[in-house]
Amino acid sequence: MNTISNEIWKDNRNYQGFEQRAYRFTDEMRPMFFNWLGIDKNSTVLDAGCGTGVFARYLANGLDKGHITGFDISEFFIAYGRERLKELNLSGKVTLEVDDGFNLRYADDTFDAVTNYTYIGVLSDKEAGMKELIRVCKPGRTVSCVIATMDAPNIWWPGDYPIEGGGELSRLLRLESDIYHKFVWESTARDYKQDGEWGGLQYPKLFDVCGLSEIRMHPYAYLMDYNDSQLPLEYRKNLLIEETESEMGYITWRYNDKKSIYNAHGFSDKESERLIELMKLKLGYLRGHFGEDKSFEWRGGFNYIVTGKKL
Ligand SMILES: C[S@@+](CC[C@H](N)C(=O)[O-])C[C@H]1O[C@@H](n2cnc3c(N)ncnc32)[C@H](O)[C@@H]1O
Repeated sequence: MNTISNEIWKDNRNYQGFEQRAYRFTDEMRPMFFNWLGIDKNSTVLDAGCGTGVFARYLANGLDKGHITGFDISEFFIAYGRERLKELNLSGKVTLEVDDGFNLRYADDTFDAVTNYTYIGVLSDKEAGMKELIRVCKPGRTVSCVIATMDAPNIWWPGDYPIEGGGELSRLLRLESDIYHKFVWESTARDYKQDGEWGGLQYPKLFDVCGLSEIRMHPYAYLMDYNDSQLPLEYRKNLLIEETESEMGYITWRYNDKKSIYNAHGFSDKESERLIELMKLKLGYLRGHFGEDKSFEWRGGFNYIVTGKKL
């Protein structure tokens, strides 16, 4: 078994990146998730590689007597996730534990359903990780993977911000994102010691190889509009400001990490510095004008779920 990916994740502390995913799961979509993942109100569910527990919390909100256990190899994510559970009064419905997905503490046939959001794809040995999840699922029940594939591009509009250089900001954001997705991502995945492609189009085959039956694929999309009037203003404001801040950090980091790839595709120090400068201007504008803002920034993407039954 190849467990080398563990080294990279153990000390990972990128809480914000994971917490921001909450908007990918809406209340309207929960019945669909429950149906596909084989969960009912009273199920015991395992959320593998749960990070800070965003997906576990989302599912927990649809449970009655049921319970969700999430595990992750990063003790920092789990500690942070436990604090979030307390804040949200969900500690009774969700348990978060530090555990290694290649060697789980749970007995065979423990859970009514086993799922994960973008966990299996980060492992250096997907097959070993899947087999361990199948082991702890009850026979006749569903094991599933929710997959955010890199093979379907995200869609987004960076907003028509009335700042000096607003158009240039959109252009540079798009350029950086295109280079990242087309050329940088694969190299980053290799650094993370992942098994094959990060995006992973071979999940149905993987499910088959691991002995699951009744394999099915289910598509869904998500979309976040920062001007959506149904969401509380403060929530939208914090989300957008926090996202812009963490995006600035992430873009700077990945540019410095993979400079030669960016430079080879027309994105140099000059563009990188200008982009950050413009993002700072946007932040300043947002802090002063959110609520009256008509810039209509939004983002969305495509995910798919693969499900199979344990015999
Ligand atoms: C892409 S993240 C997804 C996190 C979370 N499901 C979410 O969507 O916010 C992958 C997660 O798998 C965890 N992970 C990686 N290898 C692991 C292992 N061997 N055992 C348990 N968790 C692991 C990482 O720490 C990380 O939190």
